[in-house]
Amino acid sequence: MQLITLLTPLALLITTALAEATIVDALAAVNGQTLQLQNAVTSWHGDLLGLLPITKQSTDVLLETNKGTRAAKKSAPLDALGALGVAEATVTLTQSVNSSLSPLIAAKPKFDRLKVSPLILVSLGLQKKATEDMSAAILDKVPADLRGVAEGLVAPIAASFELAVDAFHPF
Ligand SMILES: *[C@@H]1O[C@H](CO)[C@@H](O)[C@H](O)[C@H]1NC(C)=O
Repeated sequence: MQLITLLTPLALLITTALAEATIVDALAAVNGQTLQLQNAVTSWHGDLLGLLPITKQSTDVLLETNKGTRAAKKSAPLDALGALGVAEATVTLTQSVNSSLSPLIAAKPKFDRLKVSPLILVSLGLQKKATEDMSAAILDKVPADLRGVAEGLVAPIAASFELAVDAFHPF
């Protein structure tokens, strides 16, 4: 047996394992930033200065999400086991997105008082689009027969953004 025929499955195994690690790392980074944003929002007392950390953290979530999209696009396709690992990271992110957008929605009267709600709406729109792009890039790497399940897993993230955008939309 030629060495190459032995190495090919091994190389494939390593490639798919790397694909999982890449995407799981990207999701974990977005998750970490999302939790920092949650922190900034929940510890905010409604003062002008306290808007700075919120602005910074939401910018960082956006940057991290765009990085995640690039990583997912560059990644090799996932195998079924890799998709499972990614599913777990997705569920975690779903919960974090909910727990960061819920206090943001609750804080709307404070943003209104400072007349910055339109800015929050713009920021939410950008983040919603970035998240959709990242989800699409990841779904693209999921094996075709698992894609329906995967779409169901990312759906709550989009639903959370819908709620937040609706809450900040003036009409
Ligand atoms: C967060 O999850 C709860 C419980 O499922 C739900 O009622 C709420 O609408 C969600 N909020 C957001 C912003 O996703």
